[in-house]
Amino acid sequence: MKKNIRNSKGTVLVTGGAGYLGSHTSVALLEAGYSVVIADNFTNGYEENVKKVEEITGVPVPFYRADVTDEQALQTIFTEHSIDAVMHFAGLKSVKESFTRALDYYRTNVSGTVTLARVCNAFGVHKFIFSSSATVYGENQVPFTEHMPLKPTINPYGETKSMCERVLRDVALMNPEFSIAILRYFNPVGAHVSGRIGENPRGVPDNIMPYITQVAAGKLEKLHIFGNDYDTPDGTCIRDFVHVMDIAEGHVKAMEHAGAGAVVYNLGTGKGTSVKELIHTFQQVNNVRVPHEFAARREGDIAICYADTGKVHREIGWRATRTVADMCRDAWQYELGLMKEKAALLEASKGNGTFINMEKKV
Ligand SMILES: NC(=O)c1ccc[n+]([C@@H]2O[C@H](COP(=O)([O-])OP(=O)(O)OC[C@H]3O[C@@H](n4cnc5c(N)ncnc54)[C@H](O)[C@@H]3O)[C@@H](O)[C@H]2O)c1
Repeated sequence: MKKNIRNSKGTVLVTGGAGYLGSHTSVALLEAGYSVVIADNFTNGYEENVKKVEEITGVPVPFYRADVTDEQALQTIFTEHSIDAVMHFAGLKSVKESFTRALDYYRTNVSGTVTLARVCNAFGVHKFIFSSSATVYGENQVPFTEHMPLKPTINPYGETKSMCERVLRDVALMNPEFSIAILRYFNPVGAHVSGRIGENPRGVPDNIMPYITQVAAGKLEKLHIFGNDYDTPDGTCIRDFVHVMDIAEGHVKAMEHAGAGAVVYNLGTGKGTSVKELIHTFQQVNNVRVPHEFAARREGDIAICYADTGKVHREIGWRATRTVADMCRDAWQYELGLMKEKAALLEASKGNGTFINMEKKV
C-alpha cells in the first residue's frame, strides 16, 4: 500500500483536512509531491482520516487541532511551518442546519475565511484555494457559468459562501500578490479507490450518496426521494455528481495554474444525472438494493443543476474523468470498509470489555 513519494514541491496548509474533501485532496497533493499540514477542529472530521491519508500515501502529515477562527492558533502553524499555499476546506456545510445555526455558519465560514486570509497576508502566503459551492448560483439557467450573475441565495449556507467569495475578491484587490482560486463544487460523491477514506458524516447524512450507501448497508431503512414531479424527464431532481478524486485533482491544478488575482472555476462534470438514475446505477454497479420511496419536495431544492466546465478546462486544463458508475462503486467500497472495521472492533472487544467509541459511524 505504501508508496515512496517525494515531497519537495512545497508545503500546503489544508484546513478541514480531516474531513471528506480535505482528506482526499491531501492524498492528491501528497501524490503530486507536495507536503501537507492539516488544521482541523474535528467537529465533523476524524483524526483517523489523517492517519489513513498517511497510510495511503506513505507520507507523514503533521496536524493541528485548531479552529480557523482562532488567529493565534493559525499564527502558530504558520510560524512552525513554511507554508507556500493554503487550501481552505474548513467550514460548516449543511443547508438545512444553516437555518437553525445561522450565527455559527457566519462565524465559522465567513469569520474563519477572513481570519485565515489575514494570517496569510501577514505571513506573505499568497496562494489561496477556496471551497465554494454551486449553491451560490441559486435558481439560474443551466448550465451554470462562472460569469453569470449570482441569484440571491435562499439559505444562510449559500449566503456565507457568496460572502466569502466577495471577501476573497477584495483580498486580491487589496494585495495584488494574491493568487486566489474560488472553486465552486457541484455534487462531490464517491471515495478514494482504496476504500480507506470517504464521506462519513456524523449523524443522519444530509447528502445523497452516504444516505444511499447506508440504506444499502441496512443502517437506514429507506431513501426518501424528495419530489417526483419536477420538470425533468423522470420527475426527480437533476444534479452534476462529480467524483471526489476529480475534485481533489482540480485543486492541485488550480493551485499550480491559477495566476494573480481572484478567479472562479466550476468543478463539475458538465453532465446532469437524475436522482433516480443515480440510484439505478448504484444498484446495478454494486448489485445491491436501495429501498426508496418518494416524498414531498424539499424547500429550497432546485430542479436542475449542472456546470459549464469550459472555463476550467480552457484555463487550467482540468476535466473530470471518472464516471457515475465509478462514483457509485467507490462509495460502496468505502461503506463496506466501514462495516468491516466495525465488525473487527466488535470481534476485538468480545469478552475483554473494551469500550467501543460509537460516536464515529463505523
Ligand atoms: N461536500 C459537498 O457536497 C460540498 C459541496 C460544495 C462545497 N463544499 C464545501 O467544501 C468544504 C469541505 O466540505 P466537506 O464535504 O469536506 O465537509 P466536511 O465536514 O467533511 O469537512 C469539513 C472539515 O472542516 C472541519 N471544520 C469545521 N469547522 C471548523 C473550524 N471552525 N475550524 C477548523 N476546522 C473546522 C471539520 O471538522 C471537517 O473536518 C466546506 O467548506 C463545504 O462547504 C462541500
